[in-house]
Amino acid sequence: MKVLRNVEDALEFTNGNYQKTVGLVPTMGYLHAGHKSLIDEARKNNDIVIVSIFVNPTQFGPNEDYDAYPRDEKRDFKLCEDAGVDAVFTPDAKEFYKNHKTYVTIEDLKDNLCGKTRPIHFRGVLTVLTKLFHIFRPTNAYFGRKDAQQYLIVKKAVEDLNFGINIIPVPIKREDDGLAISSRNVYLSDEERKAAPILNKALEKGKSSIKKGMKAEDLIKIIKDEIETEKLADIEYVQVVDTKEIKDVDVIDRDVLVALAVRFGNTRLIDNFFYEV
Ligand code: PAJ
Repeated sequence: MKVLRNVEDALEFTNGNYQKTVGLVPTMGYLHAGHKSLIDEARKNNDIVIVSIFVNPTQFGPNEDYDAYPRDEKRDFKLCEDAGVDAVFTPDAKEFYKNHKTYVTIEDLKDNLCGKTRPIHFRGVLTVLTKLFHIFRPTNAYFGRKDAQQYLIVKKAVEDLNFGINIIPVPIKREDDGLAISSRNVYLSDEERKAAPILNKALEKGKSSIKKGMKAEDLIKIIKDEIETEKLADIEYVQVVDTKEIKDVDVIDRDVLVALAVRFGNTRLIDNFFYEV
């Protein structure tokens, strides 16, 4: 497995893979079974698999956890090597964004759900992905449904800007007790960790109640009531949005994303499900 630490080395690697199918798995590292499922999917369908491991400063707000974000390069490299990855790209943040002036942003879709409390987040995500897409020119790029708004935004931006890359969604990987696996789960105290599976439980309750023609507010109430049985859970949002514009719907009469963000202490967790009418 090659370790690429700067853009020059990455471009040399890309040139060597001209005419091969390339699968790119963008990550911020501290890799877990969720990331691994993206890598496995990429490994099945591409000649070359590249994983980027980069805690991207431009997608963190000033009061967010950029410095505290967990990092473990050695363990990440081993997971990649064992999964049959051809190259990892892990550039230095200062060098990667040297005198940086150009950003990529999306209208409307960034303004709802997580974008309401994280106004610059998706601009940072689209900017780093644009850089990665230009450097590696992947055939396919893999994104987890865990970050559902991110997936929908990337898919739309790639269409709008004619990147010519297939954006492949991968299902949410969960712990045995239903908690969606996340690098941020390590922030949870023992007590918070025990409480956190309430999110999946509430979404499962929502999933078994959802019906075409149902009022979104009734579904939201079912989910919120379940979450509120857990004292440690502090709800940021539970919303039902359409999957094209990411706008709230009143009635479930088209394909929707049911998404939530909930805090346990200082840790903010997200989870969701998609429903097709
Ligand atoms: P990160 O949080 O490291 O996630 C990398 C990819 O793994 C994302 O596509 C995310 O949706 C997916 N993923 C994380 N947990 C998952 C789970 N439990 N099941 C399935 N997929 C999961 O998302 C980012 O990094 C960044 O925003 C990035 C796209 C790399 C841009 O910096």
